[in-house]
Amino acid sequence: MAIKELTVVVVVVVFSWIACTSGHEFFSSTDKVAQLFEEEEDLLTSFGLYIDAEEKNVKRMKSILLVLQLLTYFDPANPEKTTRDPVAAYKLLRRVRREWLTIVEYTQLSLYKVYQTLLDYSNIPQAKDLNDAASELIRLQEFYKLYPHNITRETSLNADEAKHMGLVAYDEDKFQHAFLWFLYSLDRLTEHSTTTEKELLRFLSSSAYHFGSLPVAIYFGQRLLNLDPTNDEVKVELNLYRYLRFERNSNPDIFTLDTKSNTSYEALCRGEVDERTSKRQRALSCRYSTGGGNPRLMYAPVKEEVEWDEPRIIRYHDIISDREMEILKNISRPQLSRSETKQGVTNIRTSQSVFLKEDNTVARVSQNIADVTGLSVESAELLHVQNYGIGGRYEPHFDAWDGENDRIATFLIYMSDVEIGGATVFPQVGVALKPKKGSGVFWYNLHKNGRLDWDTQHAGCPVLVGNKWVANKWFREFGQEFRRPCSLSDWE
Ligand SMILES: *[C@@H]1O[C@H](CO)[C@@H](O)[C@H](O)[C@H]1NC(C)=O
Ligand SMILES: *[C@@H]1O[C@H](CO)[C@@H](O)[C@H](O)[C@H]1NC(C)=O
Ligand SMILES: *[C@@H]1O[C@H](CO)[C@@H](O)[C@H](O)[C@H]1NC(C)=O
Repeated sequence: MAIKELTVVVVVVVFSWIACTSGHEFFSSTDKVAQLFEEEEDLLTSFGLYIDAEEKNVKRMKSILLVLQLLTYFDPANPEKTTRDPVAAYKLLRRVRREWLTIVEYTQLSLYKVYQTLLDYSNIPQAKDLNDAASELIRLQEFYKLYPHNITRETSLNADEAKHMGLVAYDEDKFQHAFLWFLYSLDRLTEHSTTTEKELLRFLSSSAYHFGSLPVAIYFGQRLLNLDPTNDEVKVELNLYRYLRFERNSNPDIFTLDTKSNTSYEALCRGEVDERTSKRQRALSCRYSTGGGNPRLMYAPVKEEVEWDEPRIIRYHDIISDREMEILKNISRPQLSRSETKQGVTNIRTSQSVFLKEDNTVARVSQNIADVTGLSVESAELLHVQNYGIGGRYEPHFDAWDGENDRIATFLIYMSDVEIGGATVFPQVGVALKPKKGSGVFWYNLHKNGRLDWDTQHAGCPVLVGNKWVANKWFREFGQEFRRPCSLSDWE
């Protein structure tokens, strides 16, 4: 145990301490993106209403002009007469004054002001939101080893969009991904693109140089020089690249992504579970549970599946109804804010979340959890609902922190299926749990002796396709004294 602990202690214990932040944060919640659809519809509708109002005003002004012209036609003012007839002069004065007032009134009728408040949406994505979303896509590509053509199979990007992806990658010194995006952009250039070939060749050459692929840098630099023979800067760069190429032997392949998994976490998320592990998983049992004779479960037993033996991870199927899930999501939506860790908002955890106050539905869900686990929810934390956005994930962490009144156990409810990605993985033991809507998984974070079980380190894999909703119930040690028998042994 001691040796094992030493090796794992170096892993940073990221305890999920959650607080609230404001901001748009589109990329950290898929649900916020869904709301943007309605926002967009409203925006265009308002713009249409504004145009209609302006059009009506233009029509009105045209008819007023006609009336004014008619009046001068039927009641013409004779220059000679008005200079000697004071009544005629008075009439003219009055008429011009009234014309002026009418014109001022209608030209100053500022419909824009009326509609500007309608057009003033606070939820419109900012430039930062756009860069963050691009940045998340690139992180997904890195994680799941995806080329631009892999992730654009369903939705392609045009040359300008692809260049933006390249620029964001370039800014983050991710030169291989930058290069691949610039190449994708070059492939899709049309006469409508604002991106130019020269610009892309320059970035292709520069990305390849930074990545260390000098022959590729020289190739694109030369293409640029052919297009722009008087560009002295490019000439200087090409000379440098040629010199460096002569000096260096290494020539990494910028066209091919390295597909080796760095960590067990990444491998598990990518579905590279080894055969031994999955055999062991298949051998584990599935049965119906009545929560040790809990009267509430006697007539409606819960389907229970042992997902892993050590640490014991149990999945309960249909622990929550579709209607309950919909209500929980409805209550949560307006309250979601970016999830934090003990270190604040970091890229370790990209999701939006909220702790729900107890109401009928929340209490019913909590009671269900108490019934099947046999633990007391009285001392547990409030139900915590989480929605994961583009690339949303939670890197390997522990729910407990090996301290006073620790999080003894975790009950994690999946409130959606996730098409690709989003599994819950336990890198120390090689388990990957797929989200299954309506099911919940349960495990103890602490051994019976109260010490942290290092094998419960787990992670939420990045969501590649789908909208991931989960609800967490964290049980605390206090209040469970008579529910979970404790042990003085070092081994349990
Ligand atoms: C991405 O594309 C490469 C090469 O075309 C292919 O080998 C790989 O399987 C694709 N990956 C995924 C996840 O589709
Ligand atoms: C994976 O390993 C490579 C080198 O071995 C490193 O450059 C890269 O940053 C690692 N990726 C992650 C996500 O840790
Ligand atoms: C959830 O909200 C949606 C949209 O506002 C509404 O149509 C639906 O009836 C709500 N569902 C429940 C169960 O309250």
